[in-house]
Amino acid sequence: MTRKQPATGKAGATGALDLAVIVPTFNELENAPKITAALISALGGLNFEIIFVDDNSPDGTSDRVRALAAEYPQVRCIQRVGRRGLSSAVIEGFLATAAPVAAVIDGDLQHDETLLPKMLKTLNAENVDLVVGSRYMKGGGFGDWSASRRRMSELATAMSKRLTGVVLSDPMSGFFMLRTESFRARVGDLTGVGYKILLDILSARGAQLTVSEVPYEFRTRQAGESKLDNRVILEFIELLIARTVGRWVPTKFIMFSMVGAFGVVVHMAVLSTLFGGGLMSFVLAQSIATLIAMTVNFFVNNVFTYFDRQLRGRQLLPGWLSFCAASSFGALVNVGLADFLFDAANIPWVFAALAGIIAGATLNYAVTALYTWKDTG
Ligand code: GDD
Ligand code: MN
Repeated sequence: MTRKQPATGKAGATGALDLAVIVPTFNELENAPKITAALISALGGLNFEIIFVDDNSPDGTSDRVRALAAEYPQVRCIQRVGRRGLSSAVIEGFLATAAPVAAVIDGDLQHDETLLPKMLKTLNAENVDLVVGSRYMKGGGFGDWSASRRRMSELATAMSKRLTGVVLSDPMSGFFMLRTESFRARVGDLTGVGYKILLDILSARGAQLTVSEVPYEFRTRQAGESKLDNRVILEFIELLIARTVGRWVPTKFIMFSMVGAFGVVVHMAVLSTLFGGGLMSFVLAQSIATLIAMTVNFFVNNVFTYFDRQLRGRQLLPGWLSFCAASSFGALVNVGLADFLFDAANIPWVFAALAGIIAGATLNYAVTALYTWKDTG
């Protein structure tokens, strides 16, 4: 195959790289040639490389990228097998380049690649570590986003600013440029979880990054579909927890406790109906409330806390059974302790029940983390 020389610039020539452009992709077969052409035309005059990091897309994006690489010497392909995740893909892209600066851009043409030369100029002229494309600045915008997606983005932005102390207008942006040296200095503290690589980088331990922002308008996706789904939202929640209280207490335990707190509400509702309503004895009401709360907790934990090792279909019944079996010890301690406190120690029923729940929940977490949602990854 003949190698096309780029139409403009010194790209492909020998000499030090100015810039690497990292393009994470998953099922972007049709977009890969388009973003390549768009980048080559936007970056004329610069010495650059384009690094696609593709998670072995079933649509064959990797093969398409290799075909492009045979045609354009600036294109490289990292094909990851058996792994998924936007953040971790970007991390590998950063580590693969020798360029002093790397940009991250979506492969679906929703980001404005024509801004890249301006971002590089800003980075060098203002001598900052990071330049972020912002949709929230004057001159930026959200394209054709639905009102609900916009609201979700605003909520996530407000939450992440509050919890991490990040002072950017758009810490959720997926479009930014960073000195690779600053990246490497923080790579050891990245969680690599989920979609929000910029937030991950900003909230990682390390010297404060100097930042500048440029506005951009989010474009409409032309081909393929967005991968932002419930899992992405849960990964975002996990990242926020990991970066706040998660520094001291395991993130999964916090999520498990949140579900547990919800379980307490369920438990108390059942208990106050059955016992508070005078329908049965305390010990029977507490037992029934425990069983119901336990079942609710199993299903909520399965979709929330353990969304990344979720039990499905045929795994559900044995999973639920093992959850019940493993936590029956916790339930015994729960009911036994609560009954003792209520009956023998004359402690008011609400506090007796609460003490039982806390003891039971701690045991539940330890045992079910080991048996029910075993980390097989
Ligand atoms: N390698 C890899 N692995 N790439 C992925 C994965 C993955 O698991 N998931 C998504 N991508 C790629 C897509 O192929 C696309 O090139 C880019 O990452 C963005 O994914 P989209 O699914 O198009 O995301 P979006 O448009 O909904 O979200 C955008 O806006 C968010 C801000 O609200 C992205 O720019 C996000 O980065 C940004 O945070
Ligand atoms: Mn997109």
